[in-house]
Amino acid sequence: MAAGDQKWSFVVVANRLPVRRVWEGDTAQWVPSPGGLVSALRPVMSGNPDAVWAGWTGVPGPGTEPFEVDGFQCHPVSVSQGELQLFYEGFSNATLWPLFHDALVPPEYHRTWWDAYRTVNQRYAATVADLAAPGATVWIHDYHLLLVPGLLREARPDLRIGFFLHIPFPARELYIRLPWRAEIVDGLLGADLIGLQTQLSADNFCRAVNRITGAKTTGRVIQHNGRATQAGAFPIGIDTDRISRLAADPAVQARAAEIHQTLGSPRTVLLGVDRLDYTKGIEVRLRAFRELLAEGRLSVDDCVLVQIAEPSRSQVTGYAEVRREVEQMVGDVNGNFGVMGRPVVHYLHQSQPIEELVAMYLIADIMLVTPLRDGMNLVAKEYVASRPDNTGVLVLSEFTGAAQELRTAELINPHDIEGLKSAMEAAARRPPAEAGPAMRTMRRVVRSNTAQRWAERFLDRLEACE
Ligand code: G6P
Repeated sequence: MAAGDQKWSFVVVANRLPVRRVWEGDTAQWVPSPGGLVSALRPVMSGNPDAVWAGWTGVPGPGTEPFEVDGFQCHPVSVSQGELQLFYEGFSNATLWPLFHDALVPPEYHRTWWDAYRTVNQRYAATVADLAAPGATVWIHDYHLLLVPGLLREARPDLRIGFFLHIPFPARELYIRLPWRAEIVDGLLGADLIGLQTQLSADNFCRAVNRITGAKTTGRVIQHNGRATQAGAFPIGIDTDRISRLAADPAVQARAAEIHQTLGSPRTVLLGVDRLDYTKGIEVRLRAFRELLAEGRLSVDDCVLVQIAEPSRSQVTGYAEVRREVEQMVGDVNGNFGVMGRPVVHYLHQSQPIEELVAMYLIADIMLVTPLRDGMNLVAKEYVASRPDNTGVLVLSEFTGAAQELRTAELINPHDIEGLKSAMEAAARRPPAEAGPAMRTMRRVVRSNTAQRWAERFLDRLEACE
């Protein structure tokens, strides 16, 4: 049998493949992507001769031949340069992303974007229909592929189809603004099981379905077009073992000590680690920090803020603006409060390897996770997993999925700047030993809900669907 004709009994499909291209001089190679989804699926995919992952390589143009990286069988789906603009930057990231994050920037509705979204979703569905063995299990991921469950169900009624939404599902009143709200709900209801990050998102989804289709929902089972679809909350976790191992690694610890020294060995290190995205509330924490310095409640003599902002979606509306705003504020705080040779905010607009991030988690006395809206936020969980001595304070926005689980974090409302300032000030004044009980509780939660357990729970439930 030619490799291209092989059929697979487990197919994962996501916008991106679990790999990224890394250049060394003139030669490029594929390496596994960091991130929750890849670690979650490694145990069920890597080295499994029956499993394949379909997705985009991240490089526009014709698809390449299937390949294998780190035990993951990868089946590329092509996305052209034009589709990149209309499907990825347009409908996925300038319509759905802002709409599903509470319309923090106004979502744009363009029929050309929708047409491209449908076309690309059809291509993904056709690819999977071709790859899947009779009766195979297919797991579709995230907002780029909302139509795939329905398209696939039409082509291959024999398949068991799961869908997981990694971002929030918005309140019904917001969702129904979408001109294609009915098509998208229909697409999703092609799945047997729809997983969401929180109970709130699952409720929002069921309410939207009910209003749009009139479908009967009992508990979270939706009856529509003669089929049943279940919806449920499946909060995603991290690869806790890997992060704990890194936190215990002498090389990472040595790097942590080195960074601390480079920062001037301050008494308090505050840290933010985010993709540079307007949902993350980076400017909110900078404003709070600036005001605390101006009011003398924190001092440049003993506090340093480190902000890592990973470059992201720079061509999409809203991203250049938030970058400008963040960088202006960094300049403003350093200009007004910095000392020669010793900035008070250290800002890197660069992505960092996980080893470097864990080194930073190790020296962060206060972790600032202040999104205005976030499906989960795995940085919060990584920080907790990097604190084996139970020290450190996690300042966490109530509007993240993580806040539903990490109940003993310092929960804040990022719209309430005075509340955020008080939490930051109190965290800076708290003796390290006092953080112990809260951190211990959070560590238990993070350890008991790992990425691998999340995948198992979802797949077990999917297998149990009638
Ligand atoms: C979020 C989404 C993911 C996405 C990631 C990075 O976490 O839920 O689906 O892959 O952001 O964004 P990008 O646009 O670079 O894929």
